[in-house]
Amino acid sequence: MASQSALNIGQDMAGLESCRTDFAILQQKMNGKRLSFLDSAASAQKPMAVIKAMDDVMLHGYANIHRGLYRFSQDLTLRYEGVREQVARYIGAASEKEIVFTGNATDSINLVAQSYGRAHLKAGDEVILSEMEHHANIVPWQLLREQIGIKIKVIPITDDGALDMQVYASLLTEKTRFVSIVHMSNALGTINPVKDIITKAKAHNPDIKVLVDGSQSAVHSHINVQDLGCDFFVFTGHKLYCAPGLGVLYGRYDVLNSMPPYRGGGDMIESVSFDRSTYKDPPFRFEAGTPPIVSVIGLGAAIDYVNAIGLDAIKRHEYDLMQKMTAGLKSMGDIDIYADIADKGGIVSFNIHGVHASDVGTILDQCGVAVRTGHHCCMPLMSKLGIDGCVRASFALYNNVDDIDQCIEGLYKAKEMLL
Ligand code: ALA
Repeated sequence: MASQSALNIGQDMAGLESCRTDFAILQQKMNGKRLSFLDSAASAQKPMAVIKAMDDVMLHGYANIHRGLYRFSQDLTLRYEGVREQVARYIGAASEKEIVFTGNATDSINLVAQSYGRAHLKAGDEVILSEMEHHANIVPWQLLREQIGIKIKVIPITDDGALDMQVYASLLTEKTRFVSIVHMSNALGTINPVKDIITKAKAHNPDIKVLVDGSQSAVHSHINVQDLGCDFFVFTGHKLYCAPGLGVLYGRYDVLNSMPPYRGGGDMIESVSFDRSTYKDPPFRFEAGTPPIVSVIGLGAAIDYVNAIGLDAIKRHEYDLMQKMTAGLKSMGDIDIYADIADKGGIVSFNIHGVHASDVGTILDQCGVAVRTGHHCCMPLMSKLGIDGCVRASFALYNNVDDIDQCIEGLYKAKEMLL
Protein backbone atom coordinates (compact mmCIF):
# COMPACT_ATOMS: atom_id res chain seq x y z
CA MET A 1 0.00 0.00 0.00
CA ALA A 2 1.16 3.53 -0.68
CA SER A 3 1.52 5.85 2.29
CA GLN A 4 -1.53 7.78 3.43
CA SER A 5 -0.10 11.12 2.36
CA ALA A 6 0.62 9.83 -1.13
CA LEU A 7 -2.94 8.60 -1.51
CA ASN A 8 -4.24 12.06 -0.61
CA ILE A 9 -2.02 13.84 -3.07
CA GLY A 10 -3.55 16.06 -5.73
CA GLN A 11 -2.26 16.53 -9.25
CA ASP A 12 -0.56 19.87 -8.69
CA MET A 13 2.67 21.27 -7.34
CA ALA A 14 1.16 21.87 -3.92
CA GLY A 15 0.08 18.22 -3.82
CA LEU A 16 3.56 16.99 -4.65
CA GLU A 17 5.01 19.35 -2.08
CA SER A 18 3.26 17.36 0.65
CA CYS A 19 5.17 14.21 -0.45
CA ARG A 20 8.39 15.58 1.06
CA THR A 21 7.29 14.47 4.49
CA ASP A 22 7.15 10.86 3.22
CA PHE A 23 10.95 11.01 2.84
CA ALA A 24 12.38 11.20 6.34
CA ILE A 25 15.92 11.72 5.07
CA LEU A 26 14.94 15.05 3.54
CA GLN A 27 14.39 16.44 7.04
CA GLN A 28 18.09 15.76 7.84
CA LYS A 29 20.76 18.41 7.57
CA MET A 30 23.91 17.99 5.52
CA ASN A 31 26.99 19.88 6.72
CA GLY A 32 24.69 21.76 9.08
CA LYS A 33 22.52 23.03 6.23
CA ARG A 34 19.05 22.18 4.95
CA LEU A 35 19.44 19.25 2.54
CA SER A 36 18.83 20.04 -1.12
CA PHE A 37 19.04 16.58 -2.67
CA LEU A 38 19.54 16.95 -6.42
CA ASP A 39 21.11 13.57 -7.22
CA SER A 40 18.11 11.31 -7.73
CA ALA A 41 19.26 10.28 -11.21
CA ALA A 42 22.09 8.46 -9.41
CA SER A 43 19.79 6.95 -6.79
CA ALA A 44 16.50 8.21 -5.38
CA GLN A 45 15.57 8.57 -1.71
CA LYS A 46 13.03 6.12 -0.29
CA PRO A 47 9.55 6.99 1.04
CA MET A 48 8.32 5.54 4.34
CA ALA A 49 5.84 3.36 2.43
CA VAL A 50 8.73 1.48 0.81
CA ILE A 51 10.84 1.30 3.97
CA LYS A 52 7.84 0.03 5.95
CA ALA A 53 6.95 -2.62 3.37
CA MET A 54 10.52 -3.94 3.44
CA ASP A 55 10.75 -3.75 7.23
CA ASP A 56 7.43 -5.49 7.58
CA VAL A 57 8.64 -8.50 5.57
CA MET A 58 11.83 -8.84 7.59
CA LEU A 59 10.07 -8.34 10.93
CA HIS A 60 6.97 -10.41 10.38
CA GLY A 61 7.14 -12.82 7.45
CA TYR A 62 10.59 -13.40 6.02
CA ALA A 63 11.57 -16.70 4.37
CA ASN A 64 13.14 -17.83 1.14
CA ILE A 65 10.68 -18.10 -1.75
CA HIS A 66 9.79 -20.89 -4.22
CA ARG A 67 11.30 -23.45 -1.82
CA GLY A 68 9.33 -23.86 1.41
CA LEU A 69 6.02 -25.58 2.07
CA TYR A 70 5.53 -23.60 5.27
CA ARG A 71 3.28 -20.55 5.43
CA PHE A 72 5.91 -17.77 5.52
CA SER A 73 7.58 -19.12 2.39
CA GLN A 74 4.27 -19.70 0.58
CA ASP A 75 2.93 -16.26 1.49
CA LEU A 76 6.09 -14.43 0.50
CA THR A 77 6.27 -16.39 -2.77
CA LEU A 78 2.78 -15.15 -3.61
CA ARG A 79 3.73 -11.56 -2.77
CA TYR A 80 6.95 -11.79 -4.80
CA GLU A 81 5.10 -13.15 -7.81
CA GLY A 82 2.43 -10.50 -7.27
CA VAL A 83 5.07 -7.80 -7.70
CA ARG A 84 6.11 -9.45 -10.97
CA GLU A 85 2.51 -8.96 -12.18
CA GLN A 86 2.54 -5.39 -10.89
CA VAL A 87 5.77 -4.61 -12.79
CA ALA A 88 4.26 -6.12 -15.95
CA ARG A 89 1.27 -3.76 -15.62
CA TYR A 90 3.55 -0.81 -14.82
CA ILE A 91 5.37 -1.10 -18.14
CA GLY A 92 2.51 -2.53 -20.22
CA ALA A 93 3.99 -6.01 -20.77
CA ALA A 94 1.67 -8.69 -22.17
CA SER A 95 2.44 -11.12 -19.34
CA GLU A 96 4.30 -11.36 -16.04
CA LYS A 97 6.30 -14.16 -17.65
CA GLU A 98 8.13 -11.42 -19.56
CA ILE A 99 9.50 -9.86 -16.35
CA VAL A 100 12.88 -11.07 -15.06
CA PHE A 101 14.24 -9.77 -11.75
CA THR A 102 17.98 -9.07 -11.95
CA GLY A 103 20.58 -7.27 -9.83
CA ASN A 104 20.27 -3.86 -11.52
CA ALA A 105 19.87 -2.37 -15.01
CA THR A 106 23.53 -3.08 -15.75
CA ASP A 107 22.97 -6.74 -14.91
CA SER A 108 19.91 -6.80 -17.19
CA ILE A 109 21.93 -5.50 -20.16
CA ASN A 110 24.78 -7.93 -19.48
CA LEU A 111 22.22 -10.74 -19.40
CA VAL A 112 20.91 -9.75 -22.84
CA ALA A 113 24.38 -9.26 -24.35
CA GLN A 114 25.67 -12.57 -23.03
CA SER A 115 22.57 -14.73 -23.39
CA TYR A 116 20.84 -13.33 -26.49
CA GLY A 117 24.10 -12.08 -27.98
CA ARG A 118 26.09 -15.29 -27.73
CA ALA A 119 23.15 -17.42 -28.89
CA HIS A 120 21.98 -15.30 -31.82
CA LEU A 121 24.79 -13.00 -32.99
CA LYS A 122 27.98 -13.89 -34.84
CA ALA A 123 31.18 -12.28 -36.07
CA GLY A 124 30.50 -9.30 -38.34
CA ASP A 125 26.93 -8.74 -37.10
CA GLU A 126 26.29 -5.10 -36.31
CA VAL A 127 24.99 -3.66 -33.03
CA ILE A 128 23.96 0.00 -32.99
CA LEU A 129 24.43 2.10 -29.84
CA SER A 130 24.45 5.86 -29.38
CA GLU A 131 27.00 8.42 -28.32
CA MET A 132 24.97 9.24 -25.18
CA GLU A 133 24.92 5.72 -23.73
CA HIS A 134 25.82 5.02 -20.12
CA HIS A 135 28.85 2.72 -19.80
CA ALA A 136 26.36 -0.01 -18.83
CA ASN A 137 25.08 0.02 -22.41
CA ILE A 138 28.54 0.13 -24.00
CA VAL A 139 30.88 -2.18 -22.11
CA PRO A 140 28.67 -5.33 -22.22
CA TRP A 141 28.65 -5.02 -26.03
CA GLN A 142 32.41 -4.49 -26.09
CA LEU A 143 32.83 -7.67 -24.04
CA LEU A 144 30.67 -9.47 -26.59
CA ARG A 145 32.76 -7.96 -29.39
CA GLU A 146 35.90 -9.39 -27.78
CA GLN A 147 34.21 -12.78 -27.43
CA ILE A 148 32.54 -13.24 -30.82
CA GLY A 149 33.62 -10.36 -33.09
CA ILE A 150 30.44 -8.30 -33.48
CA LYS A 151 30.80 -4.77 -34.88
CA ILE A 152 29.60 -1.77 -32.85
CA LYS A 153 28.23 1.29 -34.66
CA VAL A 154 27.39 4.55 -32.91
CA ILE A 155 24.64 7.12 -33.56
CA PRO A 156 26.22 10.55 -33.01
CA ILE A 157 24.53 13.40 -31.16
CA THR A 158 23.80 16.80 -32.63
CA ASP A 159 25.20 20.03 -31.19
CA ASP A 160 22.03 20.55 -29.15
CA GLY A 161 22.31 17.15 -27.47
CA ALA A 162 19.76 15.11 -29.44
CA LEU A 163 20.37 11.93 -31.44
CA ASP A 164 21.18 12.49 -35.10
CA MET A 165 18.30 10.51 -36.58
CA GLN A 166 19.51 10.97 -40.18
CA VAL A 167 22.78 9.28 -39.37
CA TYR A 168 20.85 6.57 -37.50
CA ALA A 169 18.89 5.72 -40.65
CA SER A 170 22.16 5.44 -42.60
CA LEU A 171 23.69 3.07 -40.00
CA LEU A 172 21.04 0.40 -40.59
CA THR A 173 22.47 -2.17 -43.01
CA GLU A 174 21.83 -5.78 -43.96
CA LYS A 175 24.22 -6.72 -41.17
CA THR A 176 22.35 -4.86 -38.40
CA ARG A 177 21.07 -7.37 -35.84
CA PHE A 178 20.60 -5.32 -32.68
CA VAL A 179 19.93 -1.74 -31.56
CA SER A 180 20.50 -0.89 -27.89
CA ILE A 181 19.51 2.63 -26.97
CA VAL A 182 18.89 4.80 -23.94
CA HIS A 183 15.38 6.25 -23.53
CA MET A 184 16.30 9.24 -21.34
CA SER A 185 19.97 10.21 -21.04
CA ASN A 186 21.25 10.13 -17.45
CA ALA A 187 23.85 12.77 -18.31
CA LEU A 188 21.82 15.20 -20.45
CA GLY A 189 18.18 14.47 -19.68
CA THR A 190 17.46 14.18 -23.41
CA ILE A 191 14.44 12.00 -24.16
CA ASN A 192 15.12 10.01 -27.29
CA PRO A 193 12.45 9.14 -29.89
CA VAL A 194 12.72 5.44 -29.11
CA LYS A 195 9.43 4.49 -30.78
CA ASP A 196 10.68 6.01 -34.02
CA ILE A 197 14.05 4.28 -33.58
CA ILE A 198 12.33 0.91 -33.08
CA THR A 199 9.91 1.45 -35.97
CA LYS A 200 12.78 2.31 -38.33
CA ALA A 201 14.80 -0.73 -37.23
CA LYS A 202 11.87 -3.12 -37.65
CA ALA A 203 10.90 -1.57 -41.03
CA HIS A 204 14.48 -2.13 -42.17
CA ASN A 205 14.44 -5.73 -41.00
CA PRO A 206 11.79 -7.20 -38.65
CA ASP A 207 14.43 -9.54 -37.19
CA ILE A 208 16.48 -6.68 -35.70
CA LYS A 209 16.08 -6.75 -31.93
CA VAL A 210 15.87 -3.54 -29.93
CA LEU A 211 16.71 -2.99 -26.26
CA VAL A 212 15.61 0.22 -24.54
CA ASP A 213 17.53 1.33 -21.44
CA GLY A 214 14.74 2.85 -19.36
CA SER A 215 16.76 3.39 -16.17
CA GLN A 216 15.79 7.07 -16.09
CA SER A 217 12.57 7.06 -18.12
CA ALA A 218 10.71 4.39 -16.13
CA VAL A 219 10.85 6.70 -13.11
CA HIS A 220 9.36 9.75 -14.77
CA SER A 221 6.91 8.67 -17.46
CA HIS A 222 4.37 6.06 -18.53
CA ILE A 223 6.02 3.15 -20.31
CA ASN A 224 4.19 0.76 -22.59
CA VAL A 225 6.62 -1.76 -24.00
CA GLN A 226 4.01 -3.20 -26.36
CA ASP A 227 3.24 0.21 -27.79
CA LEU A 228 6.97 0.97 -28.13
CA GLY A 229 7.48 -2.37 -29.88
CA CYS A 230 10.82 -3.06 -28.17
CA ASP A 231 12.12 -6.58 -27.57
CA PHE A 232 13.83 -5.71 -24.30
CA PHE A 233 13.36 -2.92 -21.76
CA VAL A 234 15.52 -2.55 -18.65
CA PHE A 235 15.28 -0.43 -15.54
CA THR A 236 16.37 -0.47 -11.92
CA GLY A 237 14.55 -0.34 -8.57
CA HIS A 238 16.81 2.07 -6.71
CA LYS A 239 16.04 5.00 -9.01
CA LEU A 240 12.31 4.22 -8.61
CA TYR A 241 12.36 4.98 -4.87
CA CYS A 242 13.17 1.36 -3.94
CA ALA A 243 16.24 -0.24 -2.34
CA PRO A 244 19.33 -1.05 -4.44
CA GLY A 245 20.19 -4.56 -5.60
CA LEU A 246 17.17 -5.11 -7.83
CA GLY A 247 16.85 -4.60 -11.57
CA VAL A 248 14.16 -5.48 -14.08
CA LEU A 249 14.52 -7.01 -17.50
CA TYR A 250 11.46 -7.08 -19.73
CA GLY A 251 11.86 -9.42 -22.69
CA ARG A 252 9.20 -10.30 -25.29
CA TYR A 253 8.30 -13.85 -24.35
CA ASP A 254 9.26 -15.54 -27.62
CA VAL A 255 12.62 -13.78 -27.54
CA LEU A 256 13.28 -14.68 -23.88
CA ASN A 257 12.29 -18.25 -24.63
CA SER A 258 14.91 -18.43 -27.40
CA MET A 259 17.68 -17.55 -24.94
CA PRO A 260 19.86 -19.89 -22.88
CA PRO A 261 20.45 -19.26 -19.15
CA TYR A 262 22.85 -16.46 -18.26
CA ARG A 263 23.75 -17.80 -14.81
CA GLY A 264 23.36 -21.31 -13.48
CA GLY A 265 22.29 -22.35 -10.00
CA GLY A 266 19.35 -23.10 -7.80
CA ASP A 267 15.74 -22.31 -8.73
CA MET A 268 16.39 -21.96 -12.49
CA ILE A 269 16.53 -25.70 -13.20
CA GLU A 270 14.02 -28.45 -13.90
CA SER A 271 16.46 -31.27 -13.22
CA VAL A 272 20.18 -31.65 -12.54
CA SER A 273 22.49 -34.61 -12.94
CA PHE A 274 26.24 -34.71 -13.52
CA ASP A 275 25.57 -35.61 -17.16
CA ARG A 276 23.07 -32.91 -17.95
CA SER A 277 20.79 -30.26 -16.51
CA THR A 278 17.54 -28.91 -17.89
CA TYR A 279 16.12 -25.47 -17.25
CA LYS A 280 12.83 -23.83 -16.38
CA ASP A 281 10.92 -21.61 -18.78
CA PRO A 282 11.37 -17.82 -18.57
CA PRO A 283 11.41 -15.83 -16.42
CA PHE A 284 12.69 -18.39 -13.86
CA ARG A 285 15.40 -19.64 -16.24
CA PHE A 286 17.14 -16.30 -15.67
CA GLU A 287 16.78 -16.06 -11.88
CA ALA A 288 19.46 -18.34 -10.46
CA GLY A 289 19.95 -18.34 -6.68
CA THR A 290 18.06 -16.52 -3.97
CA PRO A 291 16.74 -13.29 -5.52
CA PRO A 292 16.57 -9.86 -3.82
CA ILE A 293 13.25 -10.82 -2.21
CA VAL A 294 12.97 -7.87 0.17
CA SER A 295 13.79 -5.35 -2.54
CA VAL A 296 11.15 -6.90 -4.79
CA ILE A 297 8.55 -6.33 -2.07
CA GLY A 298 9.86 -2.77 -1.78
CA LEU A 299 9.47 -2.30 -5.53
CA GLY A 300 5.81 -3.27 -5.26
CA ALA A 301 5.34 -0.58 -2.61
CA ALA A 302 7.30 1.93 -4.70
CA ILE A 303 5.10 1.34 -7.74
CA ASP A 304 1.98 1.76 -5.56
CA TYR A 305 3.44 4.99 -4.23
CA VAL A 306 4.28 6.43 -7.65
CA ASN A 307 0.94 5.35 -9.12
CA ALA A 308 -0.93 6.97 -6.22
CA ILE A 309 0.73 10.30 -7.05
CA GLY A 310 0.44 9.79 -10.80
CA LEU A 311 3.27 9.69 -13.33
CA ASP A 312 1.77 12.59 -15.29
CA ALA A 313 1.86 14.82 -12.21
CA ILE A 314 5.42 13.69 -11.40
CA LYS A 315 6.61 14.37 -14.94
CA ARG A 316 5.01 17.86 -15.00
CA HIS A 317 6.48 18.71 -11.61
CA GLU A 318 10.01 17.62 -12.53
CA TYR A 319 9.86 19.35 -15.92
CA ASP A 320 8.80 22.55 -14.23
CA LEU A 321 11.72 22.32 -11.77
CA MET A 322 14.14 21.56 -14.60
CA GLN A 323 12.97 24.71 -16.43
CA LYS A 324 13.28 26.85 -13.29
CA MET A 325 16.79 25.54 -12.68
CA THR A 326 17.73 26.22 -16.31
CA ALA A 327 16.39 29.79 -16.07
CA GLY A 328 18.30 30.32 -12.79
CA LEU A 329 21.54 29.13 -14.39
CA LYS A 330 21.05 31.33 -17.43
CA SER A 331 20.49 34.38 -15.28
CA MET A 332 23.85 33.75 -13.55
CA GLY A 333 25.89 33.97 -16.76
CA ASP A 334 29.25 32.25 -17.41
CA ILE A 335 27.46 28.90 -17.61
CA ASP A 336 27.45 26.20 -20.30
CA ILE A 337 24.28 24.11 -20.22
CA TYR A 338 24.43 20.80 -22.09
CA ALA A 339 21.31 19.81 -24.05
CA ASP A 340 19.18 22.90 -23.47
CA ILE A 341 16.32 21.46 -25.52
CA ALA A 342 12.57 20.90 -25.11
CA ASP A 343 12.58 17.09 -25.29
CA LYS A 344 14.12 16.37 -21.95
CA GLY A 345 13.23 15.31 -18.43
CA GLY A 346 14.24 16.52 -14.98
CA ILE A 347 18.01 16.70 -15.45
CA VAL A 348 20.22 19.77 -15.97
CA SER A 349 23.94 19.34 -16.66
CA PHE A 350 26.24 22.34 -16.78
CA ASN A 351 29.64 23.85 -16.09
CA ILE A 352 30.70 27.26 -14.84
CA HIS A 353 33.19 28.67 -17.38
CA GLY A 354 36.74 27.99 -16.31
CA VAL A 355 35.83 26.07 -13.16
CA HIS A 356 36.28 22.36 -12.60
CA ALA A 357 33.02 20.49 -11.90
CA SER A 358 34.42 18.72 -8.85
CA ASP A 359 35.35 22.08 -7.24
CA VAL A 360 31.77 23.22 -7.75
CA GLY A 361 30.45 19.96 -6.29
CA THR A 362 32.64 20.37 -3.20
CA ILE A 363 31.39 23.90 -2.52
CA LEU A 364 27.76 22.85 -3.12
CA ASP A 365 28.25 20.04 -0.59
CA GLN A 366 29.26 22.64 2.00
CA CYS A 367 26.05 24.49 1.16
CA GLY A 368 23.94 21.37 1.81
CA VAL A 369 23.40 20.69 -1.90
CA ALA A 370 23.95 17.15 -3.24
CA VAL A 371 24.67 16.98 -6.98
CA ARG A 372 26.69 14.56 -9.07
CA THR A 373 29.86 15.77 -10.75
CA GLY A 374 32.20 14.05 -13.18
CA HIS A 375 31.66 11.99 -16.32
CA HIS A 376 28.35 10.44 -15.18
CA CYS A 377 29.47 7.02 -16.52
CA CYS A 378 29.31 8.54 -20.03
CA MET A 379 32.95 9.10 -21.00
CA PRO A 380 32.31 8.93 -24.78
CA LEU A 381 29.61 11.60 -24.40
CA MET A 382 31.94 13.83 -22.38
CA SER A 383 34.59 13.46 -25.12
CA LYS A 384 32.03 14.50 -27.71
CA LEU A 385 31.14 17.56 -25.63
CA GLY A 386 34.86 18.34 -25.28
CA ILE A 387 34.79 18.25 -21.47
CA ASP A 388 36.06 15.82 -18.86
CA GLY A 389 32.99 16.22 -16.72
CA CYS A 390 30.16 18.48 -15.61
CA VAL A 391 27.80 19.21 -12.73
CA ARG A 392 24.42 17.48 -12.85
CA ALA A 393 21.29 18.46 -10.93
CA SER A 394 18.54 15.87 -11.21
CA PHE A 395 14.99 16.14 -9.91
CA ALA A 396 12.58 13.74 -8.30
CA LEU A 397 8.99 14.04 -7.12
CA TYR A 398 10.11 15.32 -3.68
CA ASN A 399 12.14 18.30 -4.91
CA ASN A 400 10.86 21.86 -4.70
CA VAL A 401 11.78 25.42 -5.60
CA ASP A 402 13.71 25.88 -2.34
CA ASP A 403 16.09 23.12 -3.51
CA ILE A 404 16.78 25.11 -6.66
CA ASP A 405 17.21 28.43 -4.84
CA GLN A 406 19.68 26.78 -2.45
CA CYS A 407 21.64 25.32 -5.38
CA ILE A 408 21.74 28.60 -7.30
CA GLU A 409 22.88 30.42 -4.17
CA GLY A 410 25.64 27.83 -3.73
CA LEU A 411 26.67 28.30 -7.35
CA TYR A 412 27.00 32.07 -6.88
CA LYS A 413 29.23 31.33 -3.91
CA ALA A 414 31.29 28.89 -6.01
CA LYS A 415 31.69 31.53 -8.72
CA GLU A 416 32.79 34.10 -6.17
CA MET A 417 35.34 31.74 -4.62
CA LEU A 418 36.68 30.09 -7.76
CA LEU A 419 36.67 32.74 -10.47
N1 ALA B 1 23.60 5.84 -13.56
C1 ALA B 1 23.62 6.60 -12.36
C2 ALA B 1 23.84 8.07 -12.62
O1 ALA B 1 23.51 8.54 -13.66
C3 ALA B 1 24.51 6.05 -11.32
O2 ALA B 1 24.34 8.77 -11.77
